[in-house]
Amino acid sequence: MPLIVLLGCQWGDEGKGKIVDLIAKEADLVARYQGGNNAGHTVVIDDATFILHTIPTGILHPETKCLLGNGMVIDPEAFSKEIKELEQHGIAVDTNLMISETAHLVMPYHKLLDLVQEKKRGKGKIGTTGRGIGCSYGDKVTRQGIRVLDLRNKDRFVKKVQANLEFYKPLFEQIYSTNSFAADDIIQRVWKYADMFNSLAVDGVSVINQYIEQGKNIMCEGAQGIHLDIDFGTYPYVTSSNPSPGGVCTGLGISPTKIDRIFGVVKAYTTRVGEGPFPTELTMEQGDNLRKLGSEYGATTGRPRRCGWFDAPLVRRAIQISGTREVAITKLDVLDTLDTINVCTAYRCNGRTVDIFPFGIDADDNYEPIYEELPGWKTCTEDITDFDALPEKAKAYLHKIEELISAKVITVSVSPKRGKCITLIDHFF
Ligand code: IMP
Repeated sequence: MPLIVLLGCQWGDEGKGKIVDLIAKEADLVARYQGGNNAGHTVVIDDATFILHTIPTGILHPETKCLLGNGMVIDPEAFSKEIKELEQHGIAVDTNLMISETAHLVMPYHKLLDLVQEKKRGKGKIGTTGRGIGCSYGDKVTRQGIRVLDLRNKDRFVKKVQANLEFYKPLFEQIYSTNSFAADDIIQRVWKYADMFNSLAVDGVSVINQYIEQGKNIMCEGAQGIHLDIDFGTYPYVTSSNPSPGGVCTGLGISPTKIDRIFGVVKAYTTRVGEGPFPTELTMEQGDNLRKLGSEYGATTGRPRRCGWFDAPLVRRAIQISGTREVAITKLDVLDTLDTINVCTAYRCNGRTVDIFPFGIDADDNYEPIYEELPGWKTCTEDITDFDALPEKAKAYLHKIEELISAKVITVSVSPKRGKCITLIDHFF
């Protein structure tokens, strides 16, 4: 029984929630390996829309267990709110959810720091989600982070908070000219979640390796996308973790030899939120039109997403890094009404043709997309469940994508609604 990884091949928001939900019903365990509540996975079930930020969408399946891996950063306040909302919908969270005891916490001062840093950056801002994610990972790397297991012992927790606030106080007050926090306030704000965390905390490495040994179906759910990866993304306009497959091993404690299959998730066009380069971005009316058709507003912050045509060099880089040859295409139906659709096959830069997304590209660099224009299919695809029943021009569009990125389309999503998907393979073999 395989361990599969599902990850985004663009700048996040590829519509992974829908695909994860589809596969999760066959999974015994769904594990997240990086990120925090900067993610937003949307699943529409009947009349209810669930937007999950920290908890894997696998939680919506009563038979599936979920694990938050050690590579994640968890905001206790947001996490507790998410649990309450799920419980209000009758979803069993306490029996199905586990948290790795070595995951890090996003503390209230990380959230404030994220906001004041962004303000200070002015025009050079990254466009973060403002959730304190990068600041929590910063403390992890500088070895002053507070972990879930620190909530087992109040003295240890108090000492760590006090030491951190001594470090942050001059930074807030003197550099960012803002009020710092009193240690007692932070301790009170966070300690009240200690029991909740302690009841969910596990040795996540042993849990996932036991599932592997028992031959169970496991899906590792990536948040964000490869082009937001701290190492491979459009640095510095990236998140602070590794959505790419290496993050699966370090974020869960499993050997690379245990990964059986990697699926890439690719939107039928391109979007991004936040700042940074975007060669196929459509501005003005065309961009607005695509945004309207695809309801492209961030699931976490509500920000309008920047929209553009499908960018093959961008996805080629993600395919190279992830090693996947199988992709799920999402939101094909968004293109249903267009007369013509462009796909970017390569870029032209200073007289050269560039066919893979370059590192270090700047928003001002002149990477001009080379487009191939394809005819639109002008037919509603929403209720189609069989690949062969798709309009010929829609199939041609998908085959063009396959050809351009050298990967096979294994699933096509044609509606935000649960289950409305064309599936060409058995995901767990
Ligand atoms: P951070 O992860 O909040 O630090 O934000 C860093 C960058 O990643 C910003 O451009 C965010 O808009 C982007 N980002 C973070 N999480 C997501 C996501 O789930 N989808 C899309 N973009 C994201």
